Amino acid sequence: MADNSSSLTIPHIVRRQDYRPPDWLVPDIALDFALDAAATRVHATLSVTRNGDHDRPLRLDGDGLLPLEIRVDGAVLAADQWSLDGGTLTIALSNSAHMVETFVEIAPQGNSKLMGLYASGGLLCTQCEAEGFRRITFFPDRPDVLSRYSVRMTADKALYPVLLANGDPVEQGDLPDGRHWARWNDPFPKPCYLFALVAGDLACNADRFVTMSGREVQLGIWVREADLPRTAHAMQALKNSMAWDERVYGREYDLDVFNIVAVADFNFGAMENKGLNIFNSRYILADPETATDIDYDGVEGVVAHEYFHNWSGNRVTCRDWFQLSLKEGFTVFRDQNFSADMGSHAVKRIEDVRILRAAQFQEDSGPLAHPVRPESYMEISNFYTATIYNKGAELIRMMALMLGPERFRAGTDLYFDRHDGEAATCEDFVRAMEDGGEIDLAQFRLWYEQAGTPHVRALLSHDPATQSVTLLLEQSVPPTPGQPEKRPMAIPLRTALFDPETGQHRGDELLMLTEARQSVTFAGWPTAPILSINRGFSAPVIVETNRSQADLAFLSAHDDDPFARYEAMQQLMVNVLVGRIGGQPVDEDAVVAAIRDTVTNPLLDPAFIAEAIRLPSEAYLGDQMAVVDPDAIHAARDALQRRIGAELEPLWRDMHGKTKANAFALSPAAKGARKLRNTALLYLAASGAADGATVAFGQFSEADNMTERQAALATLANGASAEREAALDIFYNRYRDDALTLDKWFQTQAFAFHPDTVDLVEELGRHKDFTLANPNRVRALYGAFAGNQWAFHHKSGKGYRLVADCIVALDKLNPQTAARLVPPLGRWRRFDEARAAMMRAELQRILLEPGLSKDVTEQVSKSLE
Ligand code: ARG
Ligand code: ZN
Repeated sequence: MADNSSSLTIPHIVRRQDYRPPDWLVPDIALDFALDAAATRVHATLSVTRNGDHDRPLRLDGDGLLPLEIRVDGAVLAADQWSLDGGTLTIALSNSAHMVETFVEIAPQGNSKLMGLYASGGLLCTQCEAEGFRRITFFPDRPDVLSRYSVRMTADKALYPVLLANGDPVEQGDLPDGRHWARWNDPFPKPCYLFALVAGDLACNADRFVTMSGREVQLGIWVREADLPRTAHAMQALKNSMAWDERVYGREYDLDVFNIVAVADFNFGAMENKGLNIFNSRYILADPETATDIDYDGVEGVVAHEYFHNWSGNRVTCRDWFQLSLKEGFTVFRDQNFSADMGSHAVKRIEDVRILRAAQFQEDSGPLAHPVRPESYMEISNFYTATIYNKGAELIRMMALMLGPERFRAGTDLYFDRHDGEAATCEDFVRAMEDGGEIDLAQFRLWYEQAGTPHVRALLSHDPATQSVTLLLEQSVPPTPGQPEKRPMAIPLRTALFDPETGQHRGDELLMLTEARQSVTFAGWPTAPILSINRGFSAPVIVETNRSQADLAFLSAHDDDPFARYEAMQQLMVNVLVGRIGGQPVDEDAVVAAIRDTVTNPLLDPAFIAEAIRLPSEAYLGDQMAVVDPDAIHAARDALQRRIGAELEPLWRDMHGKTKANAFALSPAAKGARKLRNTALLYLAASGAADGATVAFGQFSEADNMTERQAALATLANGASAEREAALDIFYNRYRDDALTLDKWFQTQAFAFHPDTVDLVEELGRHKDFTLANPNRVRALYGAFAGNQWAFHHKSGKGYRLVADCIVALDKLNPQTAARLVPPLGRWRRFDEARAAMMRAELQRILLEPGLSKDVTEQVSKSLE
């Protein structure tokens, strides 16, 4: 089979401005699969129609395909009637409509890229987004070609008793030689990236949902028989999502069946194929024995995300891949709000901002920074990023905030109505918001164009003579690759001024910062108020203020906006830690006091308390420094943690004992109690108390749920104790046959704050249960390790070498997953010269590798620029 990933070809760059409508449309396609793991035959019948007045030939994308036979209107083409160049099949056609048939053979079993049709644990399944369909059959593989699909599959009935595809099942039957067949039709025209099929020996958790107009939908979650008991949470999440989309957006499901399949080998979280979502099993399977509360929330959020795509993605899809955030940003926004409604709005917002800062702010300040609507790419798989997803969601959130709930809903109604059945653009979405919500978003559009995280300086100055206070706001957007100069953005800042006497503010205002520099004056302040700004994280920006530690301590005790309150607490800690690292005198007692007050405040939600009192991550502290010093950061943070532990030891001990639940429950209250208990354990262990490891081991042994078991293991993994080794052994032996849970064993060690983590990770890479073939396992070990700042940036440079070796080896199997490990190495500019040189050297070494994929080539070469 042809392999066009040669190192000699310079990867082609695709540009947004080069978009042209397709030359040919494909209103209908019939696919016939003779399924077999070693050799699957694919017969495709395309009805093609010429789009516009031109005489260009039909060009069909293919990747690693050779046509066995081609027919046009029933007649077999001779060898000189078609050509194959760089995967593209070109056929000259004379009329405006034809029937084109192709026959190919593919090998799912040998497909280690996990794109196209591949085998996973005895199943055959597909992944087509973004450009995997071209690995299955010849087709115009672009999202603006929408077709009605009819799919027939034949397969060995014993190996593959279940045959699923998009849409509704229409017919099935038996064949001689132990084979059988099934046909599925999807009445909704869709782009080929939404095509899916699954064949295998699967059991079904079957349920039903009645839509708001009274239609009954058959729901199915398909897994290995043994995993059926672990599907209840996903099913509940699905039904909740269906009801939520009806209630909040007026969107109803549109087919008679909705199926979800869980597979063990998957490049990312899940995929929204029409009527047949395919999931990484880690986002379906959950039970108390093996899933943490974070896992449960992940299942709920991803099930919702993929379900919501049925409208934001499938009914209205993307015109081209530069518009990816049109569906992803909007759908993330939708799933975030759904999860908030299912649990706590305050805690969900804090978690989402933490993720945004950890992943997106880092991306935005490095060599891979790109706008929410990018201008160019080499490999589109590299653009499924935190910027497209999470910053994209923040853009929708800002529009929703500026419009208010009713007008935002009018805007989304108009958007769905106007573009149903179409392939749309980000511009179409913004225009629907303007028209439906009656707002001018001219300047706001810059958020789609300009990369980089805006910086806002907010300086409050009080004038006792006029009894007024002036808020001076200044903004700047740092340069990013290809964008040296930036224009001022439209930044919505929810703001309040607190009266220190009463502990209250006089109203929350939405200030629109639209100029580079702007000021607002507030009258009626005989004494200086305290500024609460970017409340609820109303804009994805970095805010600098002239607030004192005392002001922050005040807000951490009084701000009624939970995000702002959390933020004040975090900023208080950041100032102390960054000050300490910089050798300045700092007041750690203020942090200890704020933590004590927060922990003992009976009015606060335990889940909120747990968020508020945790120290900012080492990576976040690094982001606050001109040059990241991983060792100094670790030392300072660790010392503060020990001090908080020691000074409040009785409190931690008491909390750890008191918050022990009686029986496992998944209510927000029970989850909050576990979160707080685990935080108490962390501080108790840090306190230096002689029984720290014993208490942690006790929690590890007695826990009736994975949330407490894993947290105890993680606490032990940070230290050096006999209990550490014992717990790791017990955990391994208990879960060695359960891949998803064994991932936690790898991940916990890779994440550990332990001086030997880098050597342990090297050993774990040679462990008999480690494999590059499974993306979850790779992420559990190397992905987690690369996110462990102190360990990864070990001054020996060993960490860099380990990750680079992994990238090189994995690239030969699965370039998409390999490329995801590049960004941590690409951040070399943020580190001291010695580390930067070693990181660059590893990137250069990767680039010299013969046959490097374009996925890794793009990420590495951009990182070196
Ligand atoms: N559309 C999928 C989702 O967000 C993800 C597809 C990711 N594709 C990729 N090539 N990385 O739910
Ligand atoms: Zn998505």
